Amino acid sequence: MFWLPEDTVGPRRPRYTPPVTLSPTDLPALRSALLTWFGRAGRALPWRTGPEGRRDPYRVWVSEVLLQQTQVARGRVYFERFLDAFPTVQVLAEAPIEAVLKAWEGCGYYARARNLHRAAGVMAREGIPTTYDGWRALPGVGPYTAAAVASLACGEARAVNDGNVRRVLARLHGERQPTEAWVQARADELLDPARPGAWNEAVMDLGATVCTPKAPRCGECALAAWCVAFRSGEPATFPAPKVRAAVREVRAVALLLGDAREAVLERREGTLLGGLMGLPTGVVAEGESERDALTRLAARLGVTVTGELGTVTHGMTHRRITLTVYGGQGGPARTPVAGAALSRLDHKALGLWERRQASLFAPA
Ligand code: ADE
Repeated sequence: MFWLPEDTVGPRRPRYTPPVTLSPTDLPALRSALLTWFGRAGRALPWRTGPEGRRDPYRVWVSEVLLQQTQVARGRVYFERFLDAFPTVQVLAEAPIEAVLKAWEGCGYYARARNLHRAAGVMAREGIPTTYDGWRALPGVGPYTAAAVASLACGEARAVNDGNVRRVLARLHGERQPTEAWVQARADELLDPARPGAWNEAVMDLGATVCTPKAPRCGECALAAWCVAFRSGEPATFPAPKVRAAVREVRAVALLLGDAREAVLERREGTLLGGLMGLPTGVVAEGESERDALTRLAARLGVTVTGELGTVTHGMTHRRITLTVYGGQGGPARTPVAGAALSRLDHKALGLWERRQASLFAPA
């Protein structure tokens, strides 16, 4: 260890650590260390059924689509629910799309559920693909999902590249600003061609359980001997935080016509929760008042507004919606709420009605 003046004098700042290229001679020992760790500490997850490299492709595919927007802990619950409803690709293909959207409730990005359904239709007719290219040709299957299923279920040597992989590789190489192309190239180099499925799962598990974003447990890490970020003494500073795109604030008004069991529901259009059913909603346009948006909405439905029920908010990756919900009288026929696929935002809005009822009937 060299102690440079900057280590002892002045404000503490990360020591300079040049990025290094792992030598090809390091690879066998590095791969073996990580795979040995994975054999001992890899997570037992419900989609990891079947032998290594021969996982059940249907379960792997569904789990990978789900986990693109959900943490593993919550993803497990959604996965079990989806698999209970659609245990095989045939069952999924034959199900009505409404039932698929209903089972996807809470998982967000409903276009993914629509693509799952469409792809299941293709697989029911043409069979389940056995290669990366075959998977990639299905609706909604991008390079990440195709690499995951091809490696985990078909034993094909394809490296996955997700947030966990990015962090592990950035730290291993001491790269502060890893680009997508850089991560994919490093992942391809490291991938164990003899055990691609186990390798991909091992890197994902290491990122999720040891090489964690804020407080990595380097003392337990199978890759510490090769890790530039570990040697720097400040592993959590790799990679540098991404500059996030600003979150757009969206204001909207909704009408709850009926109650939490039976209400007027409309199919939403456009990118904002499009495709799902929901309370009739109007977006408050730039420069418009909430009152004007409500008047427009009430006129469209031919209803009289009776009062405000409250406000709910809902955060998505690039948007935060603030929805003010009003009660009203008249208008179109009410339909049962229970059978419809609703977004989390609509569940929160219906919760306002339930809370209002509870407070009306609470003992004084
Ligand atoms: N995150 C995304 N895919 C995963 C998988 N197959 N195992 C664990 N975590 C994951």
